[in-house]
Amino acid sequence: QSSYVTLDEGYGNTASCESAITYIDGEKGVLRYRGYPIEELAENSRFIEVAYLLLNGELPNSRQLLEFSTNLNESSIIHEDMHHFFNGFPRGSHPMGILATMVASLSTFYPLPDRLDSATEMQVVINLVSQVRTIAAFSYKKSIGEPLIYPSYKLKYVRNFLNMMFSSPVRDYQLDDDIVRAIDMFLILHADHEQNCSTSSVRTAGSSMANVYAVASAGISSLWGPRHGGANQQVIQMLEQIHAAGGDGTEFINQAKDKNSTSRLMGFGHRVYKNFDPRAMVLKKQCDKLFSKMGVSDPLFDIAKKLEEIALSDDYFISRKLYPNVDFYSGLILRAAGIPTNMFTVLFAIGRMPGWLAHWREMLHGEQVVITRPRQIYVGEPLRHYQNIEQRP
Ligand code: SDX
Repeated sequence: QSSYVTLDEGYGNTASCESAITYIDGEKGVLRYRGYPIEELAENSRFIEVAYLLLNGELPNSRQLLEFSTNLNESSIIHEDMHHFFNGFPRGSHPMGILATMVASLSTFYPLPDRLDSATEMQVVINLVSQVRTIAAFSYKKSIGEPLIYPSYKLKYVRNFLNMMFSSPVRDYQLDDDIVRAIDMFLILHADHEQNCSTSSVRTAGSSMANVYAVASAGISSLWGPRHGGANQQVIQMLEQIHAAGGDGTEFINQAKDKNSTSRLMGFGHRVYKNFDPRAMVLKKQCDKLFSKMGVSDPLFDIAKKLEEIALSDDYFISRKLYPNVDFYSGLILRAAGIPTNMFTVLFAIGRMPGWLAHWREMLHGEQVVITRPRQIYVGEPLRHYQNIEQRP
């Protein structure tokens, strides 16, 4: 159960909390969901099994997994009237903006009572884990002016999503098992990460008893930033820039080290991991495996490996404990799947949805306090009095 440490009365309840969902040891590069090492889950599990684990605290048995999977499929459709909302977005709207808006608007189409009984609460959570995928795919189809492809009861979670993204009445889209597996693993690796920026937004918004759709939308909006979930898109843009310049990245690395430059080595560094981000290690191996199985090579992957090699022998990065994070290789997998770069952070949001909702439920059933007022030290002007405009300099 989570409980909030209350500092001295002056500050009320801060944002520090206990949680039983995810454990990270940044020094040792350890990440566990409900006690299970991320490497074992990435290797052996499937995303919906991990979503069940995060939300329920235990891995499902076969009956529970079948029920969960069937429920996800049956709740994958969204209200037909929501399509009018899609038509209202101007062409070129960023899919993360559409996603945040449409998820928040679910409260209009599926109004919730103030208090949810446990069965309704879990069903709303399952609906969101399922429908975020449909809204994401519909946003993409709208952005390219193609007809929407509806979810199908014949397809499982990731296959359904890829089919909604890429199938078309006039195009035979064949699902590739290696791509399906790679996207499934991508979602597992993004499913939760303790009290990161967007999860903290979810807990804070949820603590005011805002409805769960507004809370999920708050998480999506926080994730959008280039220093958080938007980094995967920035990494690919950085690699494309280096590739176009015909370099191996040495020049870019020098820019990233330059205090006067705004460039950063995107996908490097982490607030917590001062060692390797275990997710980056898994993703790098998955890139290797995927490209060799597909019999393709991606020059950007070669540049990424070269950048890592140069950075990890450079004192600037070593002394600041800057290592590849989850975003450094993840975009290459999405690129291999044909996912457009402006959808990368959307895939991150789909992966993170079960983690956000697990934290929302944990916070909701913990000591219900409003998370407010992180510590502030006032450094502004001392007391002063109003001056009429004529008296001002
Ligand atoms: C995610 O919290 C989470 O768990 C997030 C996440 C999740 O799953 O939810 O893991 C997902 O957000 C991963 C991070 C994705 N962001 C990026 O890859 C953007 C690039 N990285 C940086 O912006 C930065 O590393 C942060 C924001 C991720 C972490 O910053 P820190 O640890 O607070 O480090 P800092 O900003 O205080 O910088 C410390 C020093 C500075 O140099 P000095 O002032 O000491 O000279 O390191 C430098 C920084 O300039 N630095 C970098 C750098 N990151 C930090 N220099 C070049 N390139 C970088 N990427």
